[in-house]
Amino acid sequence: MKDNIFTNMDRGNTVFKDKSPLSHKFLPEQLPHRNDQITMIAKFWIDALDNVTPNDITIYGKTGTGKTAAAKFAQKQLLEAAQNNNTYINVEYIRCTDYTTEYQVLAQLCQRLGRDVPYRGWTKGEIINTFDDILDQEINGHKLILIIILDEIDILLEKDGDGLLYTLTRTENVSVLSISNYLDFKKFIGPRVMSSLRDKEIVFPPYRADQLADILNERSAMSFKENVLKEDVIPLCSAMAAKEEGDARYALDLLSTAGDIADDNESNVVLGDYVITAKNRIEHNKVTDIINTLPTQQQRVLEAILILTQDNEEISSGKLYDTYKKVSKGDSVTYRRIFDFINELEMLGIISTNTISRGRGKGRTNIIKLQCDEQLVENTLNSL
Ligand SMILES: Nc1ncnc2c1ncn2[C@@H]1O[C@H](COP(=O)(O)OP(=O)(O)O)[C@@H](O)[C@H]1O
Ligand SMILES: [Mg+2]
Repeated sequence: MKDNIFTNMDRGNTVFKDKSPLSHKFLPEQLPHRNDQITMIAKFWIDALDNVTPNDITIYGKTGTGKTAAAKFAQKQLLEAAQNNNTYINVEYIRCTDYTTEYQVLAQLCQRLGRDVPYRGWTKGEIINTFDDILDQEINGHKLILIIILDEIDILLEKDGDGLLYTLTRTENVSVLSISNYLDFKKFIGPRVMSSLRDKEIVFPPYRADQLADILNERSAMSFKENVLKEDVIPLCSAMAAKEEGDARYALDLLSTAGDIADDNESNVVLGDYVITAKNRIEHNKVTDIINTLPTQQQRVLEAILILTQDNEEISSGKLYDTYKKVSKGDSVTYRRIFDFINELEMLGIISTNTISRGRGKGRTNIIKLQCDEQLVENTLNSL
């Protein structure tokens, strides 16, 4: 192996010992400041060890408050306990950004439970029957208790309606743990499902700066070489992320990007200044990533918004549509479709809308505003 180019490649100097604990995928062994929430989940789930289907649970909280990490932690613990207890329990984690319809989720669950079903082509009825059939089977006189974690459930509800929850809540040996970033996601659930969803709610509050510092201290010990972090680095990351709604993911991103910047500068220490630079770099990347992955027509809508913003125009949806049509030169979508695009751009945080009244009898108008840096949007659109 002496001549292998990878083993011989000069990695340069780096402040990192192991970057993986800073990645979004990393599941820590401990979750400081989430004991209460994890204990609450466990108090409901413990029924499963007595062969009783647990209550449904709903977890709310803003991005980066540890919802996914806590649910996966509880999943691991329960599966471990079930193994020692010889109970027939399964806990399946489904991210509804990966499986966005009732059909896809049920097909995925059937697959994981060992039944070969097609990912498309069957009717919804066929997939539901197969799922019911699997859950009806008994092993040693007991049915399986299936706990399903539906992460980012708001995405699925908005796209596909509440059919999935209907199917799952009326299956007696299924318990659902729903996770949502939004408090009002239940507006997507109809009365038919609400009455069978007997859920307990658990709120994940934003982290305070001192709590974020505990989380970062633990992670940095695993990922940075000794004594490379200047003492103001973690307090700065924590304070900045506490201001951004107590988001642990953002705090970790700041810390890891500050480390990258130290490496870029060939510095063997991470300075507080790098955290400030990291903040700008992260914001920059976020907007660029979003714009780059928008569908073409939506990029044109954004281009029209940019043009009107640069002309200092007040942007109503009518005016936007006219400009959009010019931008797209004949290849355009209908006026009604524009409203979907406006909603999506608003959800992504790229624009905001504000309904104003034009005065008596003149109706109401939606005014659209760009919510990120004009120059950044222009550069990104130009580089497509
Ligand atoms: N209490 C905690 N202790 C350690 N790491 C945490 C804690 N809470 C969140 N994290 C980390 O912060 C990041 C975001 O957490 P995550 O569970 O994905 O948040 P959410 O699902 O609420 O958006 C993940 O990398 C996670 O490991
Ligand atoms: Mg999450």
